[in-house]
Amino acid sequence: MNKVTFHGHACFCIASDSHRIIIDPWLTGNPAADMTVEEVSDIDAVLVTHGHSDHLGDTVAIAKKCDATVIAPFELATYCQHKGVKTHPMHIGGAYKFEFGRIKLIQALHGSGLPNDDGIITYLGNPCGFLVEMGSKSYYHTGDTGLFGDMSLIKEWLEHGRKIDVMMLPIGDNFVMGPKDAFTAVRWVNPSIAIPMHYDTFPIIKQDAGAFKAQVENELAVKCEVMQSGDTLTLD
Ligand code: NI
Ligand code: MN
Repeated sequence: MNKVTFHGHACFCIASDSHRIIIDPWLTGNPAADMTVEEVSDIDAVLVTHGHSDHLGDTVAIAKKCDATVIAPFELATYCQHKGVKTHPMHIGGAYKFEFGRIKLIQALHGSGLPNDDGIITYLGNPCGFLVEMGSKSYYHTGDTGLFGDMSLIKEWLEHGRKIDVMMLPIGDNFVMGPKDAFTAVRWVNPSIAIPMHYDTFPIIKQDAGAFKAQVENELAVKCEVMQSGDTLTLD
């Protein structure tokens, strides 16, 4: 059985029968998080899309606690490695078969800078999205991104299957795609299920997810799952 659990903002756990990974684990300080780092267990890998604090979040703490490998673009992985965790650096366009499944890094149109206390920004390379093939299912977590035309190519980059089973994408606008562009992204990728993320966490990214769901389901042959933090979706 394959399961997707939402933990608020852009954080998801994906589980197959044998493995479990977490993506963008921002829990500490996340008003939408349903669990603390202490409650996280049995994670094989921590996938991080970019260096912004609402995504890098508790990556290092979770990787240390679970003895998990951090998978991220090279520059961000190098930063994490120096914090004392196991890493597997990758980069855009590259795929690798891990014990838990296959990961391919997809481009994302965004930033990846990490400010220090003086506001000086360390730039941690390119941001990314993740194409995940795990168990019998495929997942596309876009990361933070604006809309880009190559999203229409995503299914060409799958090793197995011809369709994305689950797409997780931002609808919050301002920093990332808003609902209008997100609708276009869903139309291009044409997954079985779309899950909106990266909205309502702060006032500036407040959105009507119900309206987004209605538009997706009325106009496209795609199911839209609006998940609350802590919800789990079980895939057959
Ligand atoms: Ni960001
Ligand atoms: Mn973000």
